[in-house]
Amino acid sequence: MSRGAWWQDGVVYQVYVRSFADANGDGIGDLPGITSRLPYLTELGVDAVWLTPFYLSPMADHGYDVADQCDVDPLFGTLADADELLRQAHALGLRVIVDLVPNHSSSRHKWFQEALADPASAYRDRYLFRRAGPDGGPPNNWESVFGGPAWTLDEPSGEYYLHLFDSGQPDFDWRHPAVHVEWERILRFWLDRGVDGFRIDVAHGLYKQVDLSDNPPSGSQETTLFHAASMPHAWDQPEVVEVYRRWRQVLDEYDARVMVGEVFLSQLDKVARFVGADRLHQSFNFPLLVAPFEADAWRALITEALAAFAVEGASPTWVLSNHDVIRHPTRYGGGVAGGERARAATLTLLALPGAPYLYEGEELGLEQDEVPPDYRQDPIWQRSKGAVTGRDGSRTPMPWTADPPGYGFTAGAPWLPFGPQAAERNVATETADASSTLAFYRRALRLRRELTPDLGATVRWLDLPSDLLGFARTLAGRGELVCVLNATDRARDLAVVASSPLVTSGAGVFVGPEHTRIPARTAAWLLADV
Ligand code: GLC
Repeated sequence: MSRGAWWQDGVVYQVYVRSFADANGDGIGDLPGITSRLPYLTELGVDAVWLTPFYLSPMADHGYDVADQCDVDPLFGTLADADELLRQAHALGLRVIVDLVPNHSSSRHKWFQEALADPASAYRDRYLFRRAGPDGGPPNNWESVFGGPAWTLDEPSGEYYLHLFDSGQPDFDWRHPAVHVEWERILRFWLDRGVDGFRIDVAHGLYKQVDLSDNPPSGSQETTLFHAASMPHAWDQPEVVEVYRRWRQVLDEYDARVMVGEVFLSQLDKVARFVGADRLHQSFNFPLLVAPFEADAWRALITEALAAFAVEGASPTWVLSNHDVIRHPTRYGGGVAGGERARAATLTLLALPGAPYLYEGEELGLEQDEVPPDYRQDPIWQRSKGAVTGRDGSRTPMPWTADPPGYGFTAGAPWLPFGPQAAERNVATETADASSTLAFYRRALRLRRELTPDLGATVRWLDLPSDLLGFARTLAGRGELVCVLNATDRARDLAVVASSPLVTSGAGVFVGPEHTRIPARTAAWLLADV
């Protein structure tokens, strides 16, 4: 991996726009709210912010159903607010990545409205309308990722249209040249406004198998995280990488911009096909989202990711949480022990080469909230008729203070209710407590920023028992940075000799002349002479 570009090892913080900060009191986060909180992000020590979609949208999927990718939804502000956010972020030295949703539009997009209004319209072929199947039902057996069929009947014409997500999110037909032209226009619109890059939604989508034939029977109707595995004809077609080759040429006309793809595939060799000097700079690395918190599983996944993303012009990424999955302290068992495991996991990933992506609120140790059924809004919950809980529990608003009912997020009624954890896990309370998760994130990120320029690109694994994890990277002029993780539930002594710990994920790490003791569920960065 060649060094230099900011994105190669920059820490990116995902802002879920609806839930970060509400400036106008309507209970929904907005762009001016984010702008007002930018100093918090610089103090936290991140390099860039990724903003989830804030474009004009009927909000069938909370903004991932875009009616106009070049306009701001009034709920979130105006284009002038977006410009001001960019201006203030750049003045603080923060980069800004925005979300692009090229697989589909909203059904309220003007192209789709034209396509519905007149089946002979030139816009019709920019989507995937098809006649009914032989039995009079949908044209094929594809299912929506959100549950139910991936086709909805357009009654006046008797044809169905394809939507791999909600029926309010019709898929574009990327075999139509006008779709390519439009997306280049959108790229340039935001690049010209000064964004530092793009997060590309379902980047392994876009193209479908040419004749839209049935997917092989999956044997399971369950909605899995890696939906592409059971729908090979709907995802990851060979043509899609060509789109990113072209987009990369566009980005390379500008200075230091980046594209990170949401390539939701479980096999990293397939994901790696999307990244490189002539395509995407990065792709999310998702297998850790489903891995148990165990040293041997982690070691295997980290080794695999480092190898898969060792592509010239790319860099690895590390993700533990986002707005689509259960927050990682909860995945790791919740409560005190879940929180300890989560901090240890974070410290381990922060020691690796590549770019960590943090999710809003993880620096407070937030767990998944239990959103009562009456408040749930996720289309997954609605489309599954309540069978699948959905993602609302990882999208509850950010608690800034300990003061109900708005917790510093809003002066109004929050769009999703705060859970009981907000009383303790909030920015104000944790800022005042040196042992808080927030204080730990600040320490770790500060140290990471300080050490990164001097850290070697390669990872040397330490020879430790298989239920412990340890690796080292050279630290120019100072020896090696050693990261050790004890993911087990009892304290362990390691034959690692180092000087006192630089940062730890919890209390009680002891560094002796012959061994290092790491408490249960704890990680530490140590400085070792070589
Ligand atoms: C991505 C987004 C998710 C959204 C879906 C459809 O997976 O992260 O939130 O629902 O795409 O756009």
